[in-house]
Amino acid sequence: MAKRAFDNKVVVVTGAASGIGLAVARRFSRAGAICVLLDMDDARLLKREREFADAGYPVMARRCDVTRRADCDAAILAVIDRYGGIDVLFNNAGITQRSAFVETRVEVYERVMAVNFFGALYCTKAAIDSLVRRRGVIISNESIAGLAPLLGRTGYAASKHAMHGLFTSLRSEVRDQGVHVMVVCPGFIKTNLQDRALGADGEVTRHPQSRIGRQDTPEQVAEAIFRGAEREKDLLVLTGVGKLGYWFSRLAPRFYERCMARQLQAELERR
Ligand code: NAI
Repeated sequence: MAKRAFDNKVVVVTGAASGIGLAVARRFSRAGAICVLLDMDDARLLKREREFADAGYPVMARRCDVTRRADCDAAILAVIDRYGGIDVLFNNAGITQRSAFVETRVEVYERVMAVNFFGALYCTKAAIDSLVRRRGVIISNESIAGLAPLLGRTGYAASKHAMHGLFTSLRSEVRDQGVHVMVVCPGFIKTNLQDRALGADGEVTRHPQSRIGRQDTPEQVAEAIFRGAEREKDLLVLTGVGKLGYWFSRLAPRFYERCMARQLQAELERR
């Protein structure tokens, strides 16, 4: 199968001011793409825009809070106005949550769903006609928590499972129209995600995170995403621990649950 090429393609990245989103935008820019950076963090976004421009990459940056449907509609419309269409949409903006279900306020679930699930839905709805017209690519940045249970992250896992259902089902509707939908499920990655993890009360939590295995870098994830998009992969399960968790959770779900819970339990007890 011929590889997809991304030079001169319009690539929209949500949550592009930091971590995986930023690394992915840089990777596509290096391949000659025109990147559109969307994020709600104005200060960081401005810095990134300058950085891309200084590197000679064509770039557009725009504030967009993905929980606001009007922001998503306006941002996508602005991209289409400026460049004529969208070739790649990377649904990446996200937040996490770490707290026991019994202690966690319902508002925390609403917030996590608003960013992770509805943010991706709003952007995809706004861009879908253009993506179909241009036989484009939709990439959904989920998590191992979108495929398997994760203790202390019921809200996060629910939002990522919801994304998984949305995008794998959408794929079956648009594949024949030439749109490639790729789902990405990384394990633990070294980014700023934990700096804004919500606790049980909805405030940013300061208690230390438990992890399993070593963290990969956003650049490793970006390289895998770029190559996966070139080769039209359906699913990317990333990091050693991520792959192990994926297979164990399918082949021996109880064993997976026991091991995973043992590794992460301390996080809830330390509070
Ligand atoms: P990060 O915190 O470094 O980057 C997330 C970006 O999303 C930030 O720039 C933030 O300002 C932006 N953002 C947050 N809420 C937003 C909103 N309402 N509207 C627009 N932008 C918003 O974190 P990271 O790790 O790069 O996260 C990116 C995605 O990767 C998330 O969806 C996360 O769930 C996913 N992921 C991360 C893993 C990790 O271990 N870091 C593992 C698996 C998945």
